[in-house]
Amino acid sequence: MQTPPTPAQTAYDLIGGEAGVHRLVDRFYQLMDELPEAFAVRKIHPESLEGSNALFFEFLSGWLGGPPLYEQKKGHPMLRRRHLPYVIGPVERDQWMVCMRQALEEQGLESGFKARLTQAFSEMAERVVNTD
Ligand code: HEM
Repeated sequence: MQTPPTPAQTAYDLIGGEAGVHRLVDRFYQLMDELPEAFAVRKIHPESLEGSNALFFEFLSGWLGGPPLYEQKKGHPMLRRRHLPYVIGPVERDQWMVCMRQALEEQGLESGFKARLTQAFSEMAERVVNTD
């Protein structure tokens, strides 16, 4: 008997579904909180990172091809516009990427997939820069 075709795996599947996205987001904000080299980017976030963690988790769920939780709650992400209240220059962008690179590094992802994700995050990070 023929096996049914396997649907193409999404990035959401490859990262480990809901649990995998939580693992990445939790580690990302933990690093932002702890790394001295992330001080400037940590400073522009609220004192508690809980709300940021929840929103980023919901956004990534849909962005990676899983349930579009963020869109269901808040509509179109409009990331550039939603970051305008925060002063984001090259320093903040680079520090954000330090946390994301390290968090991705620790997820045990296949290296090609990890490289593609890192590239996609750095393009998005570039897009929310709003000052020199
Ligand atoms: C370039 C570096 C970045 C900095 C400095 C930055 C900073 C911030 C800050 C300060 C907030 C508000 C947090 C809060 O209200 O709790 C925020 C919200 C958010 N960020 Fe970023 N961000 C960066 C890049 C990114 C990237 C690359 C993504 C997506 C891949 C992203 C996705 C989000 C989302 C979904 C929110 C919630 C927006 C909302 O609904 O209010 N950010 N970011």
